[in-house]
Amino acid sequence: MKSSTPAVQVAETLHHIDSTVVVQGWVHTIRDMGKIAFIEVRDHTGLLQVVVDDPSTLPKLGPEYVVSIRGAVRKRGERYINPRLVTGTVELGAESVEVLNDSQELPFEVKKDTLDVNEELRLKHRYLDLRSERMVANLKLRHQVNSILRNHLDEQSFTEVETPLLTKGTPEGAREFLVPARLHPDQFYVLPQSPQQFKQMLMVGGIGRYYQIVRCLRDEDQRGDRQPEFTQLDVEMSFVDQEDILRLNEKLLIKVVQQTVPDAQITTVPFPRLTYAEAMEQHGTDKPDLRKDKNNPKEFAFCWVTDFPLFEIATEGSKLDAVHHPFTAPNPEDMPLLDSEPDKVRALAYDIALNGFEVGGGSIRIHDAKLQAKVFELLGLGRQEAEQRFGHILEAFKYGTPPHGGIAWGLDRLLMLLAGEPNIREVIAFPKTGDARDPLTGAPTTMPTERLDEVGIALKPKKPNKRAGS
Ligand code: AMO
Repeated sequence: MKSSTPAVQVAETLHHIDSTVVVQGWVHTIRDMGKIAFIEVRDHTGLLQVVVDDPSTLPKLGPEYVVSIRGAVRKRGERYINPRLVTGTVELGAESVEVLNDSQELPFEVKKDTLDVNEELRLKHRYLDLRSERMVANLKLRHQVNSILRNHLDEQSFTEVETPLLTKGTPEGAREFLVPARLHPDQFYVLPQSPQQFKQMLMVGGIGRYYQIVRCLRDEDQRGDRQPEFTQLDVEMSFVDQEDILRLNEKLLIKVVQQTVPDAQITTVPFPRLTYAEAMEQHGTDKPDLRKDKNNPKEFAFCWVTDFPLFEIATEGSKLDAVHHPFTAPNPEDMPLLDSEPDKVRALAYDIALNGFEVGGGSIRIHDAKLQAKVFELLGLGRQEAEQRFGHILEAFKYGTPPHGGIAWGLDRLLMLLAGEPNIREVIAFPKTGDARDPLTGAPTTMPTERLDEVGIALKPKKPNKRAGS
């Protein structure tokens, strides 16, 4: 008999009024009034009120017990409608309640918002934290944004391509994580800071329009808007200029905001554009916060910052560093300055800022092997070093490389702002702490000597007072 009763998710009960269904989920609250009991059952779609007419028939129940309840979905009387629940117009009249699993007392409550709970504790039991309403909503938002991006880019004939995680790395300012190569005992892979070089080589490969929702890894000091692993929407296109890239991204950003935050106000469309020099002069930062009302969490003030310098003087000595990355094209108007005053050369590089955060950045790339070699030289890489580190890209550029350019969004930062969250950990299922630990699994951990031997690594004795990661 039971098998003929349809099992439905909580929110689906709305479509089953006056029929008998099975609902499975967690006991959110129980109110036993003696003659009648009310159980709120929760699943990922919401909460449902279950009415038990004879509580004496109930098995032993507690908060967060997993239950399967069979009963009839009934419309609630006008007076009993609860607008705070998705299922607030209905209730389930329980016929049988079966316990599928019990639960220990939770280390913190998940029926209340968990933002005030100690974060170390939340992360240690992240699987419980994820039961809370806000965290469910954040993960669903993340999924929704990914779907919007994929659908939009598919329609524009982009191809999503996966690029390697074990690689040689691209210098983009951050330190890279190293992975020992067991089969090559004195050698290492690095984990990519971004797929930069591979997406450019996809352009050489004729892919034309590439995107990837991709994890990037950077061994840098943490902040509220930085994680050692984070996600980019990474995009690269052939035969485009800066204008094409800004236009496509602006459209997509507007679509994402409009479809995920229905009452959002986008401060200015088209997005204002400032050169780097203007942004620094007018706002003292290259990621200005242009909101009219800084207390309005639904206001989204995007702005493009363009014309970044190509180089900056490195802190050590008078060496030059790339401001964006070494594959960024110089502005053709400034080419004559490349040898004489390289620090005055503007790049075809742009950032997208939102409410005071840098949520993306990109550039038109160098597609000429000779110019790329020249830029490496200006960056202080000798011919031999350039060849050793980037020979593959210099070689690739010799075989008919199309003009190309692209951008990468910091998806976690964008999601943090869409969700109105104070940091990016709130929009990541399993984030790391501020000092790059995972309290849930305990990573990072020490390794048994045999494992280190396999990869040919011997640890140095610990230096006193040396902080990890500093
Ligand atoms: P960039 O290094 O500017 O560019 O990165 C692009 C965007 O990624 C986000 N971001 C981060 N988010 C969270 N945690 C971090 N540690 C972190 N680091 C960066 C930012 C940033 O704007 N390959 C180039 C893109 C290109 O040229 O196409 C790149 O990675 O929002």
